[in-house]
Amino acid sequence: MSDDATPPIHEMAAATLTDNSGCRVQWAQFSRRVLIRTIVCRPDGGVGLAGQKVAVGGWVKTGREQGKGTFAFLELNDGSCPANLQVIVDASVAPLVQLVPTGTCVFVEGELKKPPEGTKQNVELRVEKVIDVGSVDPAKYPLPKTKLTLEFLRDFVHLRPRTNTISAVARIRNALAYATHTFFQKNGFLYVHTPIITTSDCEGAGEMFQVTTLFSDAEKVEKEFKQNPPPSEAEIEAAKLLVKEKGEDVSQLKSAKASKEVITASVGELTKAKESLAKLEERSKLKPGLPQKDGKIDYSHDFFARQAFLTVSGQLQVEGFACALSSVYTFGPTFRAEHSHTSRHLAEFWMVEPEIAFADLEDDMNCAEAYVKFLCCWLLDNCLDDMQFMIKNFDKSAIDRLKMVLSTPFERISYTEAVELLEKVTEKKFENKVEWGMDLASEHERYLTEVIFKKPVIVYNYPKGIKAFYMRLNDDMKTVAAMDVLVPKVGELIGGSQREERYEVIEKRILETGLPLEPYDWYLDLRRYGTVKHSGFGLGFERMVLFATGIDNIRDVIPFPRYPGRADL
Ligand code: 4AD
Ligand code: MG
Repeated sequence: MSDDATPPIHEMAAATLTDNSGCRVQWAQFSRRVLIRTIVCRPDGGVGLAGQKVAVGGWVKTGREQGKGTFAFLELNDGSCPANLQVIVDASVAPLVQLVPTGTCVFVEGELKKPPEGTKQNVELRVEKVIDVGSVDPAKYPLPKTKLTLEFLRDFVHLRPRTNTISAVARIRNALAYATHTFFQKNGFLYVHTPIITTSDCEGAGEMFQVTTLFSDAEKVEKEFKQNPPPSEAEIEAAKLLVKEKGEDVSQLKSAKASKEVITASVGELTKAKESLAKLEERSKLKPGLPQKDGKIDYSHDFFARQAFLTVSGQLQVEGFACALSSVYTFGPTFRAEHSHTSRHLAEFWMVEPEIAFADLEDDMNCAEAYVKFLCCWLLDNCLDDMQFMIKNFDKSAIDRLKMVLSTPFERISYTEAVELLEKVTEKKFENKVEWGMDLASEHERYLTEVIFKKPVIVYNYPKGIKAFYMRLNDDMKTVAAMDVLVPKVGELIGGSQREERYEVIEKRILETGLPLEPYDWYLDLRRYGTVKHSGFGLGFERMVLFATGIDNIRDVIPFPRYPGRADL
C-alpha cells in the first residue's frame, strides 16, 4: 500500500507546476494521465509511490512476451524524461501481440508496484486496464529497435522525435529556450516580436530568401490562358461596337419617348455590354510571365508592392524598440540563403538577439558572457539526466565543458592580437591564410578557443571591411566595435557589436558598403531623433544546442532542418 506520507501523484504533479508561481491555474491535476517523469524521476526512483493507481501513456521502446505468452513486459516512454517505465500486462487484460511491437502507443491504467528484489527497476506498473492502443505493423515501422544513425534519421524527421537521442535534444533545446526567457526577463529585458517578412537586409550580405507571389500569379495566368485564350483585337472591337449600338438604342428610345419599362430594359442591355467589354479589356491586359518595367521585374505588382524577403536577423527592427524601451530581446527564426553545406550552417535557424540602450561594447560582452554562463548553469541544474545521456552516447566531455564555461572568465582579445597569435602558429597548417584584414575562418576560431586558450574567447574590434555597416567605427578609423564569442566544439556562437549611433557616420558607412540609402531611411531616423549609444548581439540557438549536447551536425539539433536541397515537411 501507499506510504501515508506520500501525497497522491496528481497533487505532486500540480505542485511542480506551481513552484515559484503564484498563479493557481493548473492543468496536470485535471489530467487522468500522469507523466512518466513524475514516477521515475523522483529521488527514490518511484519506490515511495508503490500502491498508487495511475494512468500512463507512451510509446513502447521494447516489448517482450514472457511466461509462454501469459504476460508481457513493455518499456514505455512518453518523452517527459529519458527514463522508461516498466509496464507489465497479463494476457487476460489485453492481446499481448498487439502491444509488444516497438513504436506501439499504449494508454494504460494500473497499480504501481515494487518489483521483486534484484531487478534494476525501482517501480513498475501492473496494468489493470488498457484504455487505448495505437498499433504498429513491425514489418513496416521505419524505426526498428536497432541503433540508427542520425543521418538515416534525417529522412524521417516526423518520426525521429521517438528516438532517445532526438527526444533528449528536444528537451535540452526546450530547457535552453526557457532559460533564455528566464535570463532576459529576470534582467529587465522585454521580449519583442520582430517581423519574419522584411524589406531591409540587416547584414547587407545579400543572402536573403525572397518572398513573392509573382511566380504563382504568373503560373495562374498561364494556366488560365491555356483553358481560356486571351481575347483577340477583333473580339474587343466587336464588344466596343456592341456597346456603341446599345448606347444608340437607349438614346433613340429616350428621344422617341418610349415607355419607362422599354427604356429600362434597353439600359440593362447596355450595362451588360459594357461589363463584358470591361472583362475582355481586363483579360487583354493580363500577360504571361513576370511583369516588367524598363527591362527589370516590376515589383509594384507583387504582394507587398515592393521586393520583400525573409529576415536574416531581427536586429534592425529590435533596435527601434531598444531606442524606446531600453533593454529588449527578440528570439525567432531567421533565414539565410547561403549555399553552405557545413555542419554549422542552416538555411533556417533561431537567433536570440538582445539589444541594450546606454550600453557600449564592454557592456555587450559582459551581457553575452553572463547569458552563456546562465545557460550552462541552467542545463546542469535542470537537465542532468539528458546531459548524462549525451556524455554516454555522444561526447564524454559535454558536462565538463558546461562546468568549465560556467566557472572560467572568458578570454577577451582584440582581432589584431588574435591574428598575431595565429600568425605564430607553426604546429598546424591552416587552409586559409592568416593576415590582418581577413575574416577569421572556422578553423582559426576553433584553434583560438580549443587549442590556444582552451576556453571561450571573445574577439573584438574587427577590421571594418569585413563587418556590417551598423557597427560603430572606432577612433582608429580602421576597426569597428564588433565582438564574436568563440567556444570550443562550435567556433562562433555569438556575433555582436556596439551600434553606430552617429547619424553622419552611419550614413557614410551605408554608402561606403555599397548599400542603397532608401531602405534604411527609417533606421537613420533612430539616429536623427533622440539617438543613444546602444549595443547588442545574436546567439545562434542551434550552435548553443550543439555546444551543449556535443552532437556533431547542426541538422540534428533543430526539429525540422532546412539546408540546400532539403526542406522536408
Ligand atoms: O554573426 P551574425 O550574422 O550576426 C547577426 O546576425 C547580428 N545581426 C546579430 C546581432 O547583433 N543582433 O549571426 C549571429 C549568430 C552567429 O554567431 C551564429 O551563431 C549564428 O547566428 N548563425 C547561424 N547559425 C546557423 N546557421 C547559419 N547559417 C548561421 N549564420 C549565423
Ligand atoms: Mg557573425
